[in-house]
Amino acid sequence: MKITKAVIPAAGLGTRVLPATKSMPKEMLPIVDKPAIQYIVEEAVASGITDILIITNRGKGVIEDHFDISVTLEETLRRAGKLEQLATIENLHHLANIHYIRQIETKGLGHAVSRARTFVGNDPFVVMYGDDVIIGDIPATKELIDAYGTFGKGVLGVKPVSEEAIKKYSSLKIEPISEKVFKCTDMIEKPQKKEDIFSLYSILGRCVLPPEIFDILDRTKPGAGGEIQLTDAMAELARTEGMTAVEFSSKRYDMGNKLGILQANIEVGLKHKDTAEGLREYIKELAKTL
Ligand code: UTP
Repeated sequence: MKITKAVIPAAGLGTRVLPATKSMPKEMLPIVDKPAIQYIVEEAVASGITDILIITNRGKGVIEDHFDISVTLEETLRRAGKLEQLATIENLHHLANIHYIRQIETKGLGHAVSRARTFVGNDPFVVMYGDDVIIGDIPATKELIDAYGTFGKGVLGVKPVSEEAIKKYSSLKIEPISEKVFKCTDMIEKPQKKEDIFSLYSILGRCVLPPEIFDILDRTKPGAGGEIQLTDAMAELARTEGMTAVEFSSKRYDMGNKLGILQANIEVGLKHKDTAEGLREYIKELAKTL
């Protein structure tokens, strides 16, 4: 079955990036010249997704505006002959069918995903965490969708992380199938005790889920941080039906914390045609003073 639907939860409060996120959603924070969520929508489209549901809440209207047409701006740029600038915004409203729903109460990622039940219906679908930007030649979502085609089970996008980081993310119980593909039979969100850590492999921002996840989410109790955790629902899926974990090829940036935002801007800036040369020179000079 072809997977064509993606859900992007973007209703979090972004407290780790305050005050920037007081009135600006973290999903709209830029990496050089594009908001984080645009990279995510472009990855979805490059992976064959045609319909996207963005979960928002109060104050996230700028996300809707970003993917809408701006007739006045386009006309002004056209009249001024600023065609290069025009090209950067012209196709944004054609990228995909983008739908929106509000989460109303910020009760956690699992709760946000449960809002997507009607949109998803009976199809498998992709979840793309709104603050995890993955950049590279191979779209991570495409790799996950391909693995769903091969193994027919829910798929997790994973990478190994440091022992320090695993406490803030999830930890997966896995066994290798091939070099970058694993069978996942259990997982835990934010393990605080060493004995609770299954492995240093963690879910980093992407998964393919079967529609059965919605019934599981409905009975999932609040977990780490008092939030309804998607990981807790996926753990039930992993323990009963099993899931597949894929170490995706591209690089992931965490736009939910300050250092991640800076790293993304520096690395993408070093490759961007408008900034690469100037930024490289600047960093070389700056490094001499560090
Ligand atoms: P995070 O837990 O990283 O987002 O969720 P957060 O709650 O905004 O983070 P902090 O700790 O306050 O800084 C990962 C993704 O899930 C979305 C977020 O918008 C983010 O894209 N999310 C989280 C929701 O949509 N709803 C929620 O209730 C929680």
